[in-house]
Amino acid sequence: MEGVVSVGEFVTQNQQRFQDELFRLLEIPSVSTDPERKGEVVRCAGEVARQMGQAGLQKVQVTETGGHPLVYGEWLGAAGQPTVLIYGHYDVQPEDPVDLWTSPPFTPTIRDGKVFARGATDDKGQFIAHIKAIEALMKSEGKLPVNVKVVIEGEEEIGSRHLAPFLEKNREMLQADVLVVSDSAMFAPGKPSIVYGLRGLAYVQVDIKGADSDLHSGVFGGAVPNPGFELCKLVAQLKDDQERITVPGFYDKVIDLTPQERADYARLPFDAEEFRKELNVPGLSGEVGWTPLEQRSGRPTLEINGMLCGWTGPGAKTVLPNKAMVKISCRLVPNQDPEEIAQMLADHIKKLCPPTVECQVTSLHGGKPWLTPRQHPALDCANRAVEAVFGEQALFVREGGSIPIVVDFQTILGLPGLLVGFGLNTENLHAPDEHFDLGNYQAGIRLSVELLRQLSSYQKP
Ligand code: BES
Ligand code: MN
Ligand code: MN
Repeated sequence: MEGVVSVGEFVTQNQQRFQDELFRLLEIPSVSTDPERKGEVVRCAGEVARQMGQAGLQKVQVTETGGHPLVYGEWLGAAGQPTVLIYGHYDVQPEDPVDLWTSPPFTPTIRDGKVFARGATDDKGQFIAHIKAIEALMKSEGKLPVNVKVVIEGEEEIGSRHLAPFLEKNREMLQADVLVVSDSAMFAPGKPSIVYGLRGLAYVQVDIKGADSDLHSGVFGGAVPNPGFELCKLVAQLKDDQERITVPGFYDKVIDLTPQERADYARLPFDAEEFRKELNVPGLSGEVGWTPLEQRSGRPTLEINGMLCGWTGPGAKTVLPNKAMVKISCRLVPNQDPEEIAQMLADHIKKLCPPTVECQVTSLHGGKPWLTPRQHPALDCANRAVEAVFGEQALFVREGGSIPIVVDFQTILGLPGLLVGFGLNTENLHAPDEHFDLGNYQAGIRLSVELLRQLSSYQKP
């Protein structure tokens, strides 16, 4: 059959099989944060490796990292052509709260042209599209237009702890010209986008402790400090009435959006009122002076991710809790440094905490923000590929989410990042009923084929 059909026909003819094989991945609960799922994570790595081998990639190996394994494969038969390193992650977020799913999270189910399953859009459906594109090219043309190296990790959702050391140790093997990542979204359905910026992350936990144990709130309340109340007062002071973060020094290193970027943001097809309605929230809020799109991707934030204190069961319990906890994270923009910000945050919180309770701040994890010049030639290649497949120009956007490892690929291996995702931010990533549009899966495979073609003319700036 080789060479008989065109790559486009091959993609069409194998649509059902490519879908079935995506489902094989989605059936495996590769939840990286859950120690009980260790075996499933490893099983998923094996299935990724199997599909990579079937695609025609060589030297496919499941590599131990000290944490969850990563899968590597390569095809280096395009002498003199650039080398493209494709990155993705096969691990997924936990499925909780599981009772809010319409169909079971690890039983891929099609409704309305979308497949519902944990990891469908983040990131199994997206990275496997590249593998299928490689298979289509290999089995129709017998070769690829560029050299390809593929790294699919199993720890992205828990901070990619072992990936940077792996990059350090394997510089030679991983040498390439450009990094391609599909782990982000199109701006809107039918609006393919090239992401040129990602936010970073600084995540801390604050523990407040009062007396040695919970107390009767009638017998002791009034004289003994309430950790819940002190925590709330403290947290409330972290932003002012303009929704600006009050941590001293927090904004010092922020690179402001340029007038050009702000003009481009304003031209994006976005309606704040529609956005509000879609989320069914009574009103939007955010840092004064910036539009919702700017607030969500170009400005740093501080959010409460979770709080714990006192009686939360049914009915009333008159108790004076002895401790309270909050998890807080900041999304960071270039050039804020996650460690510096975590330190500033810890210092500030400790200063705000009254001497009547104890306060402990623990840094949980962080990631650097990323920004690449929009004139980079790699982005031009992607734009041409988008035009060829979607018939329109790509939108250039910054994303609010974080993929910290993109910075490591840049600093350790010197690779410029090219982020073209074909998920949608409305596809419930990290939430119940995560799904992935199967039309975008097909489009993603075609886009990857075209991207590899376009990258054959990539030249380092
Ligand atoms: N794929 C997401 C990040 C993302 C989502 C980028 C949407 C662009 C658009 C990634 O898997 C993720 O969830 N990252 C985490 C950070 C990580 C350190 C846990 C995040 O952003 O919370
Ligand atoms: Mn992801
Ligand atoms: Mn994720």
